[in-house]
Amino acid sequence: ALKDNTIIVVLGASGDLAKKKTFPALFGLFRQGFLPRDVKIVGYARTKMDKAEYHKRATSYLKNPNDDPEITQAVEKFKSISTYVSGSYDEGEAFAALNAHLEEIESHYASKEANRLFYFALPPSVFVPVAKNLREQCYVTTGINRVIVEKPFGKDTASAAELLKSLKEYWTEDETFRIDHYLGKEMVKNLLVLRFANIALGAAWDKNYISNVQITFKEPFGTEGRGGYFDEFGMIRDVLQNHLLQVLSILTMERPVSFSAEDIRDEKVKVLRAIPPVAKEDTLLGQYVAANGKPGYLDDDTVPPGSVCPTFAATTLWIHNPRWEGVPFILKAGKALNEAKVEVRIQFKDVTQGIFKDIARNELVIRIQPSEAVYMKINAKTPGLYTRAMPTEMDLTYKRRFSDAKIPEAYEALILDALKGDHSNFVRHDELDVAWKIFTPILHWIEGKSGQRPRPVPYPYGSRGPKELDPFIQKYGFKRADASYVWPVTNLA
Ligand code: BG6
Repeated sequence: ALKDNTIIVVLGASGDLAKKKTFPALFGLFRQGFLPRDVKIVGYARTKMDKAEYHKRATSYLKNPNDDPEITQAVEKFKSISTYVSGSYDEGEAFAALNAHLEEIESHYASKEANRLFYFALPPSVFVPVAKNLREQCYVTTGINRVIVEKPFGKDTASAAELLKSLKEYWTEDETFRIDHYLGKEMVKNLLVLRFANIALGAAWDKNYISNVQITFKEPFGTEGRGGYFDEFGMIRDVLQNHLLQVLSILTMERPVSFSAEDIRDEKVKVLRAIPPVAKEDTLLGQYVAANGKPGYLDDDTVPPGSVCPTFAATTLWIHNPRWEGVPFILKAGKALNEAKVEVRIQFKDVTQGIFKDIARNELVIRIQPSEAVYMKINAKTPGLYTRAMPTEMDLTYKRRFSDAKIPEAYEALILDALKGDHSNFVRHDELDVAWKIFTPILHWIEGKSGQRPRPVPYPYGSRGPKELDPFIQKYGFKRADASYVWPVTNLA
């Protein structure tokens, strides 16, 4: 673990990701005393800025809603350990200057040990030159070097392989930490425990008891301003191929031999390899249109006119192994929908008919965000002098049960893991490769010759998604609960 004499270098320090995610996470860890002793944080980007301007930007997303003096003081301390260097991404000399700055900091260390963690908050076009220049100009020999990289890791199987190969010329697998920030989310980490620490759940975890599974990602806003980036990638690459597939792999993998990074990732790769590429007929694509005073996707100036890029995608995946044969896994994600929600919904099969008729199915719901919860829909006797059964739930809502717990931000958890050198929650190279193999054929079809490209179906901004969605899900055996059933605690969000 990187305990002492560590510098964290944030490349792309003037960008959005750094401002909104990286610095707030670093600050959160710093404030709680989780960063190495005497840590220094160095920002690097092209923009020329003086220290004051840089500090203003780097701290602009740190939250202190009640003007808590302890936080204000911590922000000042955070500034005092933060410096900035500007320079290009493709010139060796610029990185030599960065290195000089890092060495200056290190010259004040009590010992010779020097560790460097490089965080890439960068556009993919500069991944390779930056990886190369860091390796050639900023690599320490008296300590540990690590790089944290962020998606997009390529656009399909071939381009991802190409990118990985280029990066590997400079950084080893052991030095590389590929982020999928969903792996840092509390409830995603919880999947391992829920599954393998509960014999009752584990016993029902297969094709004999489970009818279908949905992994759902909903966002209530469109691509506003980010359309240029988004249009090149689309919903499948943005969320399904990475975030939702990661959730799926942990949900379905066999029990790892241990909690070690390689044991866990071996099992994830194994289950992903049992999934054939997504078929056309298992796909539903949508694009949002103007509604309720909100603009449609094509109204965004940064989106190319007439784009057929999907902002909504549902795909059904099948796992050809003895545990899961025949169980549909529906991954669905959309922008500009009616709510913000990410959840896993496992619908169990019907109970044997006879003594009960038309009784609701059991469902286990793992709400990843907002308002973390695990609840199981069960049937119970209607209280009182009735013999009827009614659907109700066993409920573990975190805000209620763990009211004092602070759930860490995904990026806090992951940066801490990278400092410790724990790869469990990072994406291994072969994992990335199998993930791309599942989605590459469908992506190539979607982006094939113009004229033959599938048209996404329209859905209004702020709606539940395309009207075709309900029949799509029902096709895979999902049974909607009685309309009178309402989950009672949604207002805790
Ligand atoms: C990112 C996607 O990876 O994840 C974004 O590029 C998306 O489009 C985001 O909004 C969602 O992350 P979170 O943590 O807000 O669920």
